[in-house]
Amino acid sequence: MEPPSNAPRSLVVVGLQYGDEGKGKVVDYLARHFDVVVRFQGGTNAGHTIVTGDHTFKLRLLPSGVLQGCTVVIGNGVVVDPQTLREEVEHVRAQGFDVELVISERAHVITPLHIQLDALREAARGTGKVGTTRRGIGPTYSSKSSRWGIRVCDLLAPDARARWDAFVGAVRTQVEGVHSEPLAVDTDEAFRSCRDDLEALRPMVGDSGRFVHTALSEGRRVLFEGAQGTLLDIDHGTYPYVTSSNCVAAAAATGTGVGPLFVSRVLGVLKAYMTRVGMGPFPTETNGTQADRIRERGHEYGTVTGRPRRCGWLDLVALRYAVRVNGVRYLAVTKADVLSGMETIPVCVSYELDGEELTDFPADPAVLSRVRPVYTELPGWSLEEWCADTTATDYTVLPPELRGFVRYVEECVGARTALLSVGPGRSATVRVPGVFEEATPHA
Ligand code: GDP
Ligand code: IMO
Ligand code: MG
Repeated sequence: MEPPSNAPRSLVVVGLQYGDEGKGKVVDYLARHFDVVVRFQGGTNAGHTIVTGDHTFKLRLLPSGVLQGCTVVIGNGVVVDPQTLREEVEHVRAQGFDVELVISERAHVITPLHIQLDALREAARGTGKVGTTRRGIGPTYSSKSSRWGIRVCDLLAPDARARWDAFVGAVRTQVEGVHSEPLAVDTDEAFRSCRDDLEALRPMVGDSGRFVHTALSEGRRVLFEGAQGTLLDIDHGTYPYVTSSNCVAAAAATGTGVGPLFVSRVLGVLKAYMTRVGMGPFPTETNGTQADRIRERGHEYGTVTGRPRRCGWLDLVALRYAVRVNGVRYLAVTKADVLSGMETIPVCVSYELDGEELTDFPADPAVLSRVRPVYTELPGWSLEEWCADTTATDYTVLPPELRGFVRYVEECVGARTALLSVGPGRSATVRVPGVFEEATPHA
């Protein structure tokens, strides 16, 4: 079926850096304009924080639209830890929210065996470890690609036990054969617990691709919520220091089961600076008091693992690349408040390598770790006065230096800023008029 030819009804929201850009906040903010919010990749490595008045939610698997009354969907491209999902659904319901959820029967299941494999693989890498979240993400995606993974539909089938036993046999070959370690998981108990949790979720399991396709065909508005970030993408990121899924906008189609023409508009989220958790090159990383100041003011500690995030300045070489590989037209810039009070803000405009200027993002992490960022200093801003008026959401009264920073970034990367975030709460969000429908006041 053709996608509807009238105004675009879908939007993909992706991270443009190394994750934790504030996607959860942005999706929650935009979700009131959408009927359905869909996760299409990643798993419990994601931690999307939403601050609603008194409550802070840190969602790992549920799409962030769940707190705005949207129907939420976990697509086939997501890897699902049944226990975490069940607990998350129960927690959100206990806080008084309805959870209308569709879970893909095709999604692969993260089991305790994958989690053991994650630890073994990291240990085997020694000093070259990735610094994963240890949630079993890599092994679950690799069991999927290797065609011995276990899916939601397998564990809900009448012969689930036989399918599980075949899966355990394949893991045993990995753990005992490759790593020469004993399987440290009670496989009977793991089967029981995965199956019990999925049985509890069974009424929500179905053909999520058909659900999303029907919603779009009928003109309902669908938001696709990315996890991780472009520089962690398995193809486009700083390989091998990446996650194991495609995090870019195109994955919204494959990770959901709708055609690419349904994925019409892309909004990329970036911080006004950058952070990274885990290992891998980060050209604009800064240390010492400047990094500590950003980390403390921005609460830059991992949502999933609590690790301190590495901090650095905005890298426009990487951002231009991320805008290109996602087809981003709109930007949401977050955490502008964290830089408030600085006299000037460094932004990296190009790299230098062995006396040569580099303006493209290199594929080789060895090259990326040797480049020297070339900075320009932009005038800093103060939001103290502006933030005191918590009802202020007017772009035109923001400090001119902040608007100048935004304009500079837009011109460098060729995309328009639709939203500016100046605090974790919903009210600390400024819409830039006339950029796109849902970001326009009174849309
Ligand atoms: P995500 O993984 O992209 O959803 O981002 P995380 O939730 O992991 O990390 C972003 C953190 O910054 C969360 O603690 C948010 O509550 C917080 N946050 C989001 N936007 C802003 C902002 O504009 N200012 C400040 N100070 N905090 C923000
Ligand atoms: P959200 O959705 C930040 C990082 C890990 C590690 C690498 C691989 O909250 O932005 P994995 O466990 O996926 O195999 O780890 O990717 N990582 C994230 N960093 N935000 C995330 O998600 C991340 N998910 C994975 O720290 O470096
Ligand atoms: Mg996060």
